[in-house]
Amino acid sequence: MRDKTFLMIPGPTPVPESVMLEVAKHPIGHRSSEFSKILENVYKNLKYVFQTKNDVFVYTSSGTGAMCAALENLINEGDHVLSLVLGNFGNRWAKIAESRGAIVEKIEVGTGEVIDPEVLRERLAKDVNKEIKIVTLTHSETSTGAANDVKTLCSIIREHGALSVVDGVTSVCAMECKPDEWGIDVLVSGSQKGFMIPPGLAF
Ligand SMILES: Cc1ncc(COP(=O)(O)O)c(C=O)c1O
Repeated sequence: MRDKTFLMIPGPTPVPESVMLEVAKHPIGHRSSEFSKILENVYKNLKYVFQTKNDVFVYTSSGTGAMCAALENLINEGDHVLSLVLGNFGNRWAKIAESRGAIVEKIEVGTGEVIDPEVLRERLAKDVNKEIKIVTLTHSETSTGAANDVKTLCSIIREHGALSVVDGVTSVCAMECKPDEWGIDVLVSGSQKGFMIPPGLAF
């Protein structure tokens, strides 16, 4: 028991023994055909995990690193971003967007509440000039335990024409999440939650 650490937090989640044994192996050549084959398999299987026909990118970063990468690639200074905020991690999207020079508006709800799709529909209907370019949202808001109806929210965002950018750090591999079917434009996740592997990779 003395060599085990039990973290009573939402993540890093426990890592199965079989994964730990793989991690303990001596490194193989990162430019070898052996490694290429493993990587090819990982990229193929990630499409299944993410329920997508698109390519999944792997980042050597935390989940927040992939959140930054997502917005860095989408925002130009002065762009309008609407952030749907359930708690701490919804606010993180807003902060990252602001740091990239976006004009950020928030729809915020109380602790434990989720975004009412009709409130989002009404706000986007008022945006007749289509100024809102990106809508950020959190699937499972770890700081409150509340989960948004991403499927409905993303269909409303798609009707308007903005891009939906979803934090799936604690939802992918743990809850149903279907980016292609639900019309999610960008979905981000991290290795140390539902994937049950150590922190340090993001998708
Ligand atoms: C919903 C959610 N989004 C984002 C993050 C940030 O992930 P990371 O700690 O890997 O940067 C977390 C981490 O707990 C999270 O729970």
